[in-house]
Amino acid sequence: MSLLLIAKKRDFDSLKKALLEKDPNLDVEIWPRVENKERVNFAVCWNHPEKVLGNYPNLRAVSSLGAGVNHLLDDESLSEDIPICRLVTDSLQDQMAEYVLNAIVNYRLQIDDYFENKRKGIWEQKSTIPKKHTPVGIMGLGEMGKSVATLLVKHGYVVSGWSRSKKDIEGVTSFAGKSELNDFLSDTKILVNLLPLTEETEGFLDLDLFKKMKKPGYLINVGRGNHLVEEDLIYAFDMGYLEGACLDVFEEEPLPKNHSFWNRKQIMITPHIAAITPANEAAEVIVENYKRAMSGMELLFEVDREKGY
Ligand code: NDP
Ligand code: OXD
Repeated sequence: MSLLLIAKKRDFDSLKKALLEKDPNLDVEIWPRVENKERVNFAVCWNHPEKVLGNYPNLRAVSSLGAGVNHLLDDESLSEDIPICRLVTDSLQDQMAEYVLNAIVNYRLQIDDYFENKRKGIWEQKSTIPKKHTPVGIMGLGEMGKSVATLLVKHGYVVSGWSRSKKDIEGVTSFAGKSELNDFLSDTKILVNLLPLTEETEGFLDLDLFKKMKKPGYLINVGRGNHLVEEDLIYAFDMGYLEGACLDVFEEEPLPKNHSFWNRKQIMITPHIAAITPANEAAEVIVENYKRAMSGMELLFEVDREKGY
């Protein structure tokens, strides 16, 4: 029985070490050096090569190395009866909440302008946008979204959230389903995307949606690059629906060197680092799920294939 780590470009040394610290009896293999494909019972994947999972006939479960699972659900070589799980940890939630809070504070204080001014040696005080003028709307109130919402409420922001089902989070106005989307957007100045990427949510962040927000709005995309219709973001700037964006995820990652986003002053770019699970915490969840899969138990953070997240 072996546990296989699969990713295209990733150094797995620290994760392998952490897994063996949790359970020295594990047999951990790193793709593509797999001695016997039949022995692989559990795979952990991030950005894995297409259809590679079909090469392992005795898989009992597959885990994402992150919170998102769209890369696994998209893999047609993975048989539908193999359960999929993902990583959610306290520190992933904390990092995400801090990233979003930081992006909002940067926007309110116009920090980007100060970076520019520093380069030019300009001392100029700018006005800070008051919190009451920046109602935040979070799309997706799952493990990440609710942690972001809770931190923002603690910091005195006006917060609402939109999800498939209604939520009860202290201080957060909850909107649910398509019928309440317009009301949610009309109250939103800063839009935070924390939806999973599914058939329903792909391309959701488009011009039509930006038009419905408080004008000019600000977008924080920490979900997936394919949620955003990239050219619509530029139209939204040009037409005054949005005045800025902080993007951590992109259609193509790494973001190509010649991509027009690099030259847009209104866009803050980070390289998919909003929340990264430390190896020791990842190992804890992976080992637990490996053991559960081997004994046929329900997995932690198991994905509902019907819903797609
Ligand atoms: P969850 O599965 O816990 O939550 C998903 C939320 O989205 C739920 O509230 C769900 O509603 C809502 N939702 C899903 N589909 C729809 C829909 N069609 N309409 C309305 N609401 C919908 O996911 P997480 O919070 O753990 O993570 C969200 C995403 O964040 C991940 O899929 C990943 O892409 C991204 N992520 C990015 C990271 C980064 O570093 N940039 C790090 C971690 C995650 P309901 O609750 O009613 O089911
Ligand atoms: C993700 C992650 O899903 O990094 O993006 O966990």
